[in-house]
Amino acid sequence: MRIGVIGAGRLGICFALLCEESGHSVIVSDVQSKYVTQLNSREIFSNEPEVEDLLMRAENFQATVNNQEVIRSSDFIFTFVPTPSLPDGSYDCQCVDMVVDDLLKSPDLQDKVFVIGSTVNPGYSDTVQDRLKDRGISVYYNPEFIAQGTIIRDMKGADMILCGGDDSRGFGEIQMIYEDIQDSDVHFYPMSRKAAEITKIGVNCFLTYKISYANMMGQILYNSGCGDEIDNVLTAVGDDTRVGSKYLGYGLGFGGPCLPRDNRALGHYAKTVGLEYNLPGITDDFNNVHANFIKRYCIEQNVNNLPFFIESIAFKKGSDMTVESPRFLLVEDLLKDGYTVYVQEIQDVIDQHEEELIDLYGDNIIFVKNPAEIHEPFWRIDL
Ligand SMILES: NC(=O)c1ccc[n+]([C@@H]2O[C@H](COP(=O)([O-])OP(=O)(O)OC[C@H]3O[C@@H](n4cnc5c(N)ncnc54)[C@H](O)[C@@H]3O)[C@@H](O)[C@H]2O)c1
Repeated sequence: MRIGVIGAGRLGICFALLCEESGHSVIVSDVQSKYVTQLNSREIFSNEPEVEDLLMRAENFQATVNNQEVIRSSDFIFTFVPTPSLPDGSYDCQCVDMVVDDLLKSPDLQDKVFVIGSTVNPGYSDTVQDRLKDRGISVYYNPEFIAQGTIIRDMKGADMILCGGDDSRGFGEIQMIYEDIQDSDVHFYPMSRKAAEITKIGVNCFLTYKISYANMMGQILYNSGCGDEIDNVLTAVGDDTRVGSKYLGYGLGFGGPCLPRDNRALGHYAKTVGLEYNLPGITDDFNNVHANFIKRYCIEQNVNNLPFFIESIAFKKGSDMTVESPRFLLVEDLLKDGYTVYVQEIQDVIDQHEEELIDLYGDNIIFVKNPAEIHEPFWRIDL
């Protein structure tokens, strides 16, 4: 198949390279011309494992800055352009709208398939199908369930593939694309576009409940004088197969580029369909309350008032992303209160934040490559 990918960022490039590896001819487009040149010369740097190797080996792969070229030369056009969050929690789908504008400018869309992989608001993909309805192209919604740092692995071994649309031909062909990519059996769920959009954010929402439940249990145990038994209790709870152990650890709360945003988007959408009082809103509030609880806990436990030490301020250790990172927020809260904090970090994150943090907090923030560089006693934030 000839597969096109518009928007070759973190997600798009991974999907494109896996399609290429499984035997398809792939063309990607991106608005960043320098990045496109690097893709064509097989020279990108990526924190995602396997991406650089897959690109190096890719023979039937090319990149362009021209979306029309992708549309013209592909049977399947996937898009993974950004959809930032708006203040009300919903997704801003303007970049996808622009891709649809590009499709509409194309003289021949007959029998092509357009697949939206970006996260969008429930009901959005139907509006795209409406805009394109006289052009002979079918529209599907097909989100990915991946975690940063394991995107390739997660795409190859997804528990389920979600596909929203209304035409069985497209369902069959999209399923085949995933069968080619996946190491394991494909659990394919065709449904309406809107149901798929709700399911996508609903899955991430459920993870925020599990994380928040684990943190609430931790708070209860700590306040009951059983703080040293939190892990044991949660392991026991997770051993009940009705509950399950994934995402059930005690920690700093949920963060990153996906969970908080999907949670708020479902909360916002729930309100638009009459559910003013809904779980995502409560989970979001609890996550903020938990951040304060953790800060108080750290200060209480650090009885000798030592400088703090934390491994990473990214939303997940080893990641280069600090968006909605509970670690980052905790460190900033401690710095605002005048504490000294040592942070062990990778160079990428240091480059992104060192200057701004030193401007704000002076030498109270100290980046190190490993704790052996610290020549004074410190208190380790071990969560
Ligand atoms: N990264 C994730 O973990 C993840 C997980 C699930 C869903 N998503 C969703 O997938 C989408 C993409 O996420 P991402 O993390 O890959 O974003 P990203 O910002 O890393 O990549 C988006 C890419 O699209 C390009 N782009 C923007 N406008 C364009 C246009 N008009 N034409 C061509 N290219 C354009 C950008 O230059 C960028 O390289 C978002 O909707 C996001 O919510 C991401």
